[in-house]
Amino acid sequence: MNKETLIGSSIGTTLDRFINAKQSEFPFATGELSQLLRDIALAGKIINLEINKSGLLDITGAIGTTNVQGEAQQKLDVIANVRFIRALRNGGQVCAIVSEEDDEIVEINKNSNYVVAMDPLDGSSNIDVNVSIGTIFSIYRRISPIGEHVTKEDVLQNGDKQVAAGYILYGSSTMMVYTTGHGVNGFTHEPSLGEFVLSHDNIKSPETGTIYSVNEGSYYSFEPGVRNYIEYCKEQRYSARYIGSLVSDFHRNMFKGGVYIYPRTDKSLNGKLRLVYECNALAFIAEQSGGMATDGERRIMELDPLELHQRSQLFIGSKEMVKKVMSFL
Ligand code: AHG
Ligand code: MN
Ligand code: MN
Repeated sequence: MNKETLIGSSIGTTLDRFINAKQSEFPFATGELSQLLRDIALAGKIINLEINKSGLLDITGAIGTTNVQGEAQQKLDVIANVRFIRALRNGGQVCAIVSEEDDEIVEINKNSNYVVAMDPLDGSSNIDVNVSIGTIFSIYRRISPIGEHVTKEDVLQNGDKQVAAGYILYGSSTMMVYTTGHGVNGFTHEPSLGEFVLSHDNIKSPETGTIYSVNEGSYYSFEPGVRNYIEYCKEQRYSARYIGSLVSDFHRNMFKGGVYIYPRTDKSLNGKLRLVYECNALAFIAEQSGGMATDGERRIMELDPLELHQRSQLFIGSKEMVKKVMSFL
């Protein structure tokens, strides 16, 4: 790259500056969404610090409680949830939060415009063993009038209504990746500056790839169509890659080309992942990067959620690969 190109490149812009620049492209923007995105980044930085030190502090392991879905809560699940709720409450832009770790809607600022759905810490089984984990978030505009109590309708909007969504990946480096519906951008956390810095602008996912990500231990619990697709992947000599943290598996496949599958099993008929705070956000990122996300029949973002913790099958990643899986179902 020559000097002019280097100087002109937006790579290296801090997240705050990037958000401000994007806001000024919308003439009637009030700055509320920008502030909300900054609040999410702040919470992400705090959680990042806690995760980095988790082996040294007494914050690993199970806490002894279960969430509404009967899953054992890890100490860090609960800590991350509290950090996010606190950051969003203090930030003032959010009226309510739907979280994996809370049975009901958490109402915080009645006079604010936005609803956030989140999985504060994704990849619980990897927390204690120093393997990549993540945070997932979706942002919606409320439907009910400002100043009134938040309703189920506000939080059960379909994914196509997301105004922004993204994730933070606590991996070999920490990254925040998000979209507001105008492409996907990725920011790497620079620890000495304490800032997220634009490192991956306008991310585009390969149309196809050679990675398939599925918990093959459940092979005999899957339906014949899914099993046949897995056989097809093997015949094609594809690579099997499965971390067990959705954010990490999705992120790798978005860059390298691949498909992530979490189908229904004979025990969980709707799959495992949650539509409102796991599937929708990643579906938005997938589509914005040129990929695809379905529940096996329909686009994830078209589905009307009926319950906060509703589960869905998920087939997500490179477009041609998702279409191929669907042809087997
Ligand atoms: P969470 O930790 O938020 O409950 O989510 C875990 C999810 C997802 O991150 C991962 O891809 C999947 O569960 C792994 O499930 P299996 O262990 O059944 O493969
Ligand atoms: Mn999760
Ligand atoms: Mn979680």
